[in-house]
Amino acid sequence: MTTILITGGAGFIGSNFVRYMLALYPAYKILNLDKLTYAGNLESLADIDSNPNYSFLKGDIADRTFIESVFASNAIDSVVNFAAESHVDRSILGARVFVETNVLGTQTLLDAAKATGVEKFVQVSTDEVYGSLGATGYFTEATPLAPNSPYSASKAGADLLVRSYFETFGFPAVITRCSNNYGPYHFPEKLIPLMIANALEDKPLPVYGDGLNVRDWLYVEDHCRAIDKVLHHGKAGEVYNIGGRNEQKNIDIVRLILRELGKPESLITFVKDRPGHDRRYAIDASKIQHDLNWQPTETFETGIAKTIAWYVNNRPWWQRIRSGDYQKYYELQYEKR
Ligand code: NAD
Ligand code: TYD
Repeated sequence: MTTILITGGAGFIGSNFVRYMLALYPAYKILNLDKLTYAGNLESLADIDSNPNYSFLKGDIADRTFIESVFASNAIDSVVNFAAESHVDRSILGARVFVETNVLGTQTLLDAAKATGVEKFVQVSTDEVYGSLGATGYFTEATPLAPNSPYSASKAGADLLVRSYFETFGFPAVITRCSNNYGPYHFPEKLIPLMIANALEDKPLPVYGDGLNVRDWLYVEDHCRAIDKVLHHGKAGEVYNIGGRNEQKNIDIVRLILRELGKPESLITFVKDRPGHDRRYAIDASKIQHDLNWQPTETFETGIAKTIAWYVNNRPWWQRIRSGDYQKYYELQYEKR
């Protein structure tokens, strides 16, 4: 049986990927390793918790002794590393944990995976390592790294370590760089879920700066399908950009959410801009489209409608996050076992 170690599987993209893999590959064993930081939420996986092919390990990817023991006691065939501190605004408030998890954590995983040997190591990175674009052009895999936030700098540091393990040791690593994701189980500190939750509760919607910053949005399941392609068919040492050619201005997304929910635009509040705020991201994903035959399946219209409906129908999930109650779930569910 193939065993895949998925780190950060209790987060937004990781939980979607764990669910996607269990549904698609009934012969795979999925090990989800997650530290359960504020962003990790096992309630996002409650529906698959009893799946016999799934197990959960609580721990830190930067804890060398723990990570070595995980590799020693499981025959891990491949690794997909989602675990990270992921929020730009938090990295501006305090960068250290971003270096500890994103850089040291990745290096700890690389060492353990190299020592035991794996078929593939997928490093889930971000288009933010390329920095910011002007009004035109796209990030390609050849765009120089120019990260602007402590978050993106720490992700770029991890990418360079991954690259070096391939170049120096022939370690079978692949890097994916995806644009902004949206969809179910997205932590409500990020733009789209925050705006939906605030609108549903008639709270102000805080738009940074002039609201004209552009992000290239991809529905999370399309990202999962791309990572699946890279895991099974990606070439060691390569970087694959992932994106849906779906550029949107922040303010247009906020207006769309208000319209869909029947809420007034008077809820929009322009607030002080984020320091170092990247103006525009846009991904050229032609490499993964041609080499691995990947295409996004959702349009923004279908994806955002599904996303809004999910938040409307799953109020307890995000309300328990906003109240802090979700962090008690682990104790109830796991510690007494
Ligand atoms: P998230 O913040 O929702 O989830 C991160 C998960 O990692 C959480 O479950 C958290 O508990 C876990 N974690 C954090 N530190 C850990 C540690 N030291 N050890 C073990 N687990 C730890 O993030 P996300 O949005 O799901 O992003 C997942 C990955 O995808 C990240 O690497 C991120 O850089 C990358 N990415 C995200 C986006 C996006 O739009 N969200 C886009 C491109 C790439
Ligand atoms: P975010 O979801 O934090 O993703 P990232 O910064 O990694 O792209 O932010 C997306 C965009 O939305 C970004 O331009 C910042 C902006 N934004 C706001 O205007 N208000 C908010 O409250 C947040 C969280 C983000």
